[in-house]
Amino acid sequence: MTDNAFHFSGVGYSYGPARALDNIGFTVTSGEKLALLGANGSGKSTLLRMMDALCFPDGGTATACGMTLSATAFADEDTNFAFRRRVGLVFQNPDVQMFNPTVMDELAFGPLQLGWSTTEVRREIDNMLVRFNLTQLKDRPPHRLSGGEKKRVAIASVLICKPQILLLDEPTAALDPASKSDLVSFLSRELGEDRTVVTATHDLDIVEDISSRTIVLDRGSIAADGATLDIIHDTALLQRTHLVFPHHHSHPKAGPYGKSHSHIHEPPAKATPSFDFDHGAKD
Ligand SMILES: Nc1ncnc2c1ncn2[C@@H]1O[C@H](COP(=O)(O)OP(=O)(O)O)[C@@H](O)[C@H]1O
Ligand SMILES: [Mg+2]
Repeated sequence: MTDNAFHFSGVGYSYGPARALDNIGFTVTSGEKLALLGANGSGKSTLLRMMDALCFPDGGTATACGMTLSATAFADEDTNFAFRRRVGLVFQNPDVQMFNPTVMDELAFGPLQLGWSTTEVRREIDNMLVRFNLTQLKDRPPHRLSGGEKKRVAIASVLICKPQILLLDEPTAALDPASKSDLVSFLSRELGEDRTVVTATHDLDIVEDISSRTIVLDRGSIAADGATLDIIHDTALLQRTHLVFPHHHSHPKAGPYGKSHSHIHEPPAKATPSFDFDHGAKD
């Protein structure tokens, strides 16, 4: 075992002739909050799937919690089981992930797979229902929830297994602004200091809230790796990697910005947590 959550060195991956990841190298220490930022098609989901041992490098070496990420290593059931206890991935589309008849069954599924006792499973479900404000929804079929509610169930169903490492693929995709803001303040509160969290996103509004370090992916390669605050203010980098586009427009009021100019819009000021435990998410 090492102290590192992940260590990647010279990692590549191709879908047939299409190169999706090339020469990827980084180390993620335990407890780190990392964002994988990149435009569509830059390789974020492929990299997250690899970090979840759903696909393996075809070049270079990668480890997660000191375990080698390779098809050979994961052919061993014990290795696979030990890994699944430690690492959880929340897919971009919750409909792909949720298949149980009710929210409660969805939450029970992982713990039952891990062999927890029914008493323990019940206790943890109650705990998650309260923390994720899902109590009123517990008997509902997951596919009949709103986008924001589905996301909360999907995240809760992974977190209930207490993974040391949580991987989130575009958690705010397809959410309206209010649900997005609720989810982000909820995540920044609930993820905890010890847990390693890696979030793939192209949403510049959320990176500051969910990470202290950001890796920028561009067409399968690492374009930058640094402090999130430095990266989201590096306009040239963001333009080069298609995360913002220069545009010209006029602000209606006079003042320092009162004329046509090219700039990016700053992420909005930090919102106060607006997740309302008594009345539910506003979505
Ligand atoms: N199943 C697949 N088969 C072939 N190409 C794929 C597949 N999944 C992704 N790709 C390609 O790999 C590249 C990276 O995709 P992906 O990891 O999904 O990027 P992102 O999540 O950043 O949008 C893209 O060029 C995409 O078209
Ligand atoms: Mg993706």
